[in-house]
Amino acid sequence: MDALHPRLLSVLGHLDAERFISGEAIAGRIGVSRAAVHGLVRQAAAHGVNVHAVRGRGYRLARPLELLDEARLAESLAPLGLHVLCLPEVDSTNARLLALAAAGAPHGLLLAAEWQTCGRGRRGRHWLGVLGAGLTFSLLWRFERPVAQLSGLSLAVGVALVRAMRALGAAGVGLKWPNDVLLGEDKLAGILIELSGDMLGPAAAVIGIGINLRAAELLTGQLGVPVADLETACGRRLERNAALAAVARELAGVLGIFDRHGFAPFRDVWRAWHAWQGRPVDVLGADGRVLTGRAVGVDDQGALLLDTGGGVEPILSGDLSLRSTR
Ligand code: BTN
Repeated sequence: MDALHPRLLSVLGHLDAERFISGEAIAGRIGVSRAAVHGLVRQAAAHGVNVHAVRGRGYRLARPLELLDEARLAESLAPLGLHVLCLPEVDSTNARLLALAAAGAPHGLLLAAEWQTCGRGRRGRHWLGVLGAGLTFSLLWRFERPVAQLSGLSLAVGVALVRAMRALGAAGVGLKWPNDVLLGEDKLAGILIELSGDMLGPAAAVIGIGINLRAAELLTGQLGVPVADLETACGRRLERNAALAAVARELAGVLGIFDRHGFAPFRDVWRAWHAWQGRPVDVLGADGRVLTGRAVGVDDQGALLLDTGGGVEPILSGDLSLRSTR
């Protein structure tokens, strides 16, 4: 995705949805020309942030825009031992946090970005966001257990996301193995876990999460596949910083339990929220083979249990799709 103009977020930070602010006033505050402000407002529109421009009055946001607030997040998450870093733009919060982890960043560092130019998805895909309309962040977790004992971690993270979303009022949210959050059949959030550090010692994981908060229709248009957003699931407007803090709180709780007991304590709740429980599915393996069967749950390691008709097979990795039964 394109990089943002370095001043774009400054301009947006000076705009209001309640009242018009003149281009001259904004230009004065951030030290650019009025023409530059005009150009930046146009760039904002290209990113889905609509701004009313009225000659003689200035600019007003079509709807409120809440930027990430590092101080507020840090204050609310410090009691959990989390540290917060908010950046306007990065290539990928996962990539940046992996680099920080290698340089000795502390356990519990949460890195959130307003914009990713190269957000990573699973299996080499990209993660696309809409400016100010989603959450893209990564959390560094240094486990006591080694990498070999992290199976099921991404499923446990999915449980934390659904818990937080339900606490925010979401209805109809479910989990797709291994780690997507769905509203109905459409994706609402994705998880990408990348491991860092020495494979033999205690593991460190960079847990990357992307959540669509709003603007699902815009993203659907950009991606060409239907996606969902959390405000639709909640039926109300959400505050971005509050939503991020709520998710981080659940994550910290779940990860602490996971470090002591692994995935087993989350297996039943995962299954209760399994969006495709008992449904016919295809599983595309890394080797290109497709297995078909019914998704009947997960085991204590987080493997998908696939009833192939000839027995129940645990599947450790793969890409799941619903099989048409017509
Ligand atoms: C997927 O569903 O394919 C996983 C998507 C994970 C996206 C998030 S956005 C924040 C973090 N940084 C990244 O580069 N990717 C993850």
